Amino acid sequence: MVAIRARERTRADGVARVSPTDAALICGTVLVPLVARGLLARWPLMVDLGDLVDADRVSVRVLRRMRAKYGRGRVLLLRLPKRRLALVLDAEGVRRVLEGEPEPFTVANLEKRHAVGRFQPKGVLVSSGPERRARRLFNEEVLDTGRGLPRQAETFARVAREEAAVLLEFAKERGELRWDEMRVSWARVLRRIVLGDKARDDHAVTDTLFRLRREANWGYAPRSERTYKEFRGRLEAHLRRADEGSLAAVVARTPYGPETAPYDQVPQWLFAFDSAGLVLFRALALLASHPVHEARARTAIEQDPVALGYVRACVLESVRLWPTTPAILRDATRDVAWGGDVLPGGTGVLIPAVFTQRDSEALPYADAFTPDVWLDGTAGADWSVVPFSGGPAACPGQDVVMLASTVFLASLLAGGVFRQTGGRRPTPELPLPGSLSPYRLRFSVGGP
Ligand code: HEM
Repeated sequence: MVAIRARERTRADGVARVSPTDAALICGTVLVPLVARGLLARWPLMVDLGDLVDADRVSVRVLRRMRAKYGRGRVLLLRLPKRRLALVLDAEGVRRVLEGEPEPFTVANLEKRHAVGRFQPKGVLVSSGPERRARRLFNEEVLDTGRGLPRQAETFARVAREEAAVLLEFAKERGELRWDEMRVSWARVLRRIVLGDKARDDHAVTDTLFRLRREANWGYAPRSERTYKEFRGRLEAHLRRADEGSLAAVVARTPYGPETAPYDQVPQWLFAFDSAGLVLFRALALLASHPVHEARARTAIEQDPVALGYVRACVLESVRLWPTTPAILRDATRDVAWGGDVLPGGTGVLIPAVFTQRDSEALPYADAFTPDVWLDGTAGADWSVVPFSGGPAACPGQDVVMLASTVFLASLLAGGVFRQTGGRRPTPELPLPGSLSPYRLRFSVGGP
């Protein structure tokens, strides 16, 4: 026992070079499934397959074994054919990396520049230096980052309520809610909030972006210039119109400098907003299978229809359990001292949120649906739990998207009762599945 303790101590907080066999195992069970499901646009078939084999649970098991083998607190360094990649598995490591933006850990990492840079070449997520500072500031100004409620909160909430009502009416008539309708409805919400009411039915602007994201899943494949031109044309027309009450209107009146590229910031907003639809659909499945939590959410809607704290916490739990950014990427800009070791400059750094947010050795609530951890500050204080990232590059759109998602979910719950009739069923008595495909979920819909 003493010997084991001593060994653990000497191993803590350094860089562990992973053996080729273990690197192959991590590639096969963690990295390949992450890439195969589509990093920028999901391939539904692959997500469904991941659901059937519970791919993320397998990833968690393998990474836990690797951490036990190489030492808690250590970064796992993998030598891949063209790249050195460091995996960060513990809260303290996550904090160091995320707080280390821009130096020594840049957000504009190599893979992101190749993939995301294709449809938003001057987006903040792929920028560095003074350009990044100007673009980040612009994003924060327009999105009202850190102010709790965006300036147009009332308009955004109204949009979410209206679209939820349309969806609910349709679903009630049919007696069923499926992903296809949810996707269309949520896309209307995000187009109205970002681009204005007149963009409500411009499916082409989000569809062309989706096609570009799909291409970007392949990283180095050539971009379809026709699709990009069509997307930019539609996007710019909406932004020029600057409908009052939308983010486009704020873009139009927010001052910016020569480095900002304001229109280039917007694809990220559309793209990231889209993923909240997946979060909401999973939240519905969680509530449908956890009657106690559902009752509390309904009480919150009746008693506190403005703050909706408990409903908000349910949305946050959904994105913790099944993060829409399953891995956060950074690059080391120079050699970094890490414990007694050195993490070489140029190394890619990967924080697997699918692992850290489900790490039962660190989080007692890892595999359970526990909205309370968002209400009592537990999850917010833990660097293992970073669905919106953290540090200087944390998601600046969190308040906007949480407001819209919370009001949308609350409106669905206020108007209907949802019972899951298809897809994988979360069960309160068992650890929640590592993977939950939203595409297979189906709900019967009745009156409240
Ligand atoms: C469920 C919804 C969302 C989630 C889970 C989410 C999560 C994240 C995460 C994890 C990052 C960090 C990515 C990285 O470090 O590589 C990020 C960055 C970002 N997000 Fe979000 N996001 C969401 C919605 C939104 C929305 C709706 C907007 C805008 C309206 C937005 C704007 C951004 C921007 C501009 C960045 C880049 C920040 C930077 O590089 O400084 N996000 N988001």
